[in-house]
Amino acid sequence: MKTLMTNWTRKDLTSIADLSVAELRHLLTTASAFKDVGTREIKKVPALRGKTLVNFFVEPSTRTRISFELAAFRLSADVVNISASTSSLTKGETLKDTACNLEALLADIIVLRHSSAGAAQFLAERLGASVINAGDGAHEHPTQALLDTFTICEHRGKMDGNLAGLHVAIIGDILFSRVARSNIHALTKLGARVTLCGPATLVPRSLESLGVTVTHDLDALLPQVDVVNLLRIQHERQRKEYFPSLGEYTSLFGLTKARAEFLKPDALIMHPGPINRGVEIDSDIADSGRSVILDQVTNGLAVRMAVLYLCAGARGGSETRIT
Ligand code: CP
Repeated sequence: MKTLMTNWTRKDLTSIADLSVAELRHLLTTASAFKDVGTREIKKVPALRGKTLVNFFVEPSTRTRISFELAAFRLSADVVNISASTSSLTKGETLKDTACNLEALLADIIVLRHSSAGAAQFLAERLGASVINAGDGAHEHPTQALLDTFTICEHRGKMDGNLAGLHVAIIGDILFSRVARSNIHALTKLGARVTLCGPATLVPRSLESLGVTVTHDLDALLPQVDVVNLLRIQHERQRKEYFPSLGEYTSLFGLTKARAEFLKPDALIMHPGPINRGVEIDSDIADSGRSVILDQVTNGLAVRMAVLYLCAGARGGSETRIT
């Protein structure tokens, strides 16, 4: 019987930037324990029995919303899903009023995806409930970075969370990507070297202040890296054109079949999804044996179980025994 003793003190998870290295490693270790639980015939544990989670997604989602819902089910919590279009946000109710009403209905955990940077932190400071950031504008997507990092650690046999010596390339629309920002924080804290690559308009040199290197020469970068993480162009956050055409973008920054030949044979190919096939990555590469894209999705479940378990526990709500 496995018992996870936790000294986790955060009721909320709103960013990776806030976390210490020890907290990051604790999250990864806890996720690993929950991944083991997922291999059993009975995959459900009683850790959040009697707790209520509200999935509040003001922006669309497939992977994040479904995996938070499944994670909550596996922890025996009750789950309610609400979307912006079917809520009273459409009648002018504020985010804060909506969240306070959810708390009045005894929500213990609110998982929020919102188009505004800082929305989750805003609620976390005002609610007693745990608030988990499921993506806030172009700011952060902490659980995506955790599942990406977990996937790298797993495939590289580095479950101690020490990524020193590993070189990760993040390619594409960095400027508007919350996934990139959270990944940069997680990977650099764990010791990895990170290089960003894409058009100068979307990958400005100023990003080097985050402790990474910036390049605009993908062909020179690819042979050097152990992991490539391709990002989608975030058209929904762009108010002008940042490159002449998608065709030109792909010819310079797409991971085509020909370009993938430059990679080390054991390089991992990652993408947070949703994929725009034929733009940032060719279908042949996305579906190849070197791609760990669907492993990322699978790991999202264990990672989100860990986040819910630890944050609800910090409110005094979960049991320390997971089996
Ligand atoms: N990666 C990710 O956040 O996917 P969804 O938008 O489908 O949740």
